[in-house]
Amino acid sequence: MPVAIAEIAFSQEQISRRVRQLAKVIRSDLAGRRPLLVSVLQGSVVFLADLVRALELDCDIDFLSVSSYPGEYQTGGVVRIIKDLEIVLEDRHVVLIEDIVDTGLTLAFLLKTLKARDPKEIKVCTLVDKPVRRIAQPPIDYIGFQSDRFLIGYGLDFQGLYRNLPYLAAVNDVPALAAEPRLLEPLFSGVEQV
Ligand code: IMP
Repeated sequence: MPVAIAEIAFSQEQISRRVRQLAKVIRSDLAGRRPLLVSVLQGSVVFLADLVRALELDCDIDFLSVSSYPGEYQTGGVVRIIKDLEIVLEDRHVVLIEDIVDTGLTLAFLLKTLKARDPKEIKVCTLVDKPVRRIAQPPIDYIGFQSDRFLIGYGLDFQGLYRNLPYLAAVNDVPALAAEPRLLEPLFSGVEQV
């Protein structure tokens, strides 16, 4: 059988179990605090929505957005904030919620920028850690999954598509998807691989 163009990498059940485990650790680390969860748009919103409901802790949430190459899956070294936070970070216990740490350049930039605002502490929680292509080495406190594949779904997109798949799928043939971005739409009808 030919290799699938894409297939389920982490199922809904696996994600839900892992999110509950992460929430338990974060809850215990931040017990008695009122953390500020900072979600990096747009990839981490689905993860944030599940994590915050599993957290069972008083917390605030805020959002920021950084520049990337629109519609591209590669990331570059130049990062800038295009939508900033509304909540002041001074003296706050911050948990930065990321979708994926790949080269680490985005996270390194964010940590440097947010630390300059005098929070009491910043912890980093990422849904996926991709250590293989790491260039910068920012610290990561909480990791959902490790992978070295290109992932879509559960908030992660390819050219704006597939964020609303309920699970994480791995794309084996990125050039085929680049040539035909809607190629994986059958995943929405319940098939487990295309
Ligand atoms: P980096 O760590 O600065 O290289 O950038 C990480 C960002 O690249 C993530 O927040 C995603 O937006 C994007 N990215 C990296 N790998 C993937 C992937 O497998 N799927 C979708 N987006 C990805």
